[in-house]
Amino acid sequence: MTGKPTSLVFLQQKAKASDTERELAQRLQLELVQPTALGEAPEFGYVLELTDAGLGLRGMEKETRGTLRVDFAAKSLQRRVQQSVKSQDIGKAVGLTRQSQLRVLDATAGLGTDAFLLASAGCEVTLLERSAIVYALLQDGVSRARETSSELRDVVSRITLAQQDFLRFQKQDADFDVVYLDPMFPAKRNRARAKKAMFFLQQLLDEPSDEALLLAHARSIANSRVVVKRARLAPLAGGQQPDIQFKGSSSRFDVYLIR
Ligand SMILES: C[S@@+](CC[C@H](N)C(=O)[O-])C[C@H]1O[C@@H](n2cnc3c(N)ncnc32)[C@H](O)[C@@H]1O
Repeated sequence: MTGKPTSLVFLQQKAKASDTERELAQRLQLELVQPTALGEAPEFGYVLELTDAGLGLRGMEKETRGTLRVDFAAKSLQRRVQQSVKSQDIGKAVGLTRQSQLRVLDATAGLGTDAFLLASAGCEVTLLERSAIVYALLQDGVSRARETSSELRDVVSRITLAQQDFLRFQKQDADFDVVYLDPMFPAKRNRARAKKAMFFLQQLLDEPSDEALLLAHARSIANSRVVVKRARLAPLAGGQQPDIQFKGSSSRFDVYLIR
């Protein structure tokens, strides 16, 4: 244990760890700790834990308190699904107004929210995520969704997950109409409110990849377009001017057409 605020351990739920807990901790190379290790002032900043609610990342500091899970049944996400994804900026940006069964490579999957929206609109979405921790949360969210309802099972049947760095992804691995990039958590977030999930991840993840490289690689893979999601006022990825922009209240989608 390092004692750093960003340190992470796997917290077993009982005095004896289950086989699943042991396997997960080993796969993620995390120290497995007993419930008693929580004590008065834990030395770690975060714990990963497998409870009845699923795999969760729990912040131990005052600013990070709360648990982050991938929950495709969440009301806020389901509300967005009901509001026709096609008419939302993300749907327009990927080109859903022209065609609904797009093959999309979500090259920076994160918590899979955007990918889920696209899959719920009929897209076949392959998600790449390089962080082993985020990938484990995604896998858990997808398997819980399969058990939740036939509607969710149908949506996640269009989702494929891979733990991989996009910059190592080869074009010959598959054929995609759209490559979708959302590499950066915006720097300024209100920690105290809904975007706590982002703050968690910002602290734990590796340095972001070079955006010019990501965009060039995406352009070499997409058949039709590359979509880059940005904070509304963020600079252009790699300084490159998009062909189309969709601006919302907090986000912006920059579209680069492949000619
Ligand atoms: C802002 S989040 C994506 C959020 C996502 N759009 C959603 O709806 O939840 C960015 C994610 O991209 C991942 N990432 C960054 N660079 C990557 C790369 N080169 N290859 C694969 N994943 C990457 C990070 O680990 C992080 O989980």
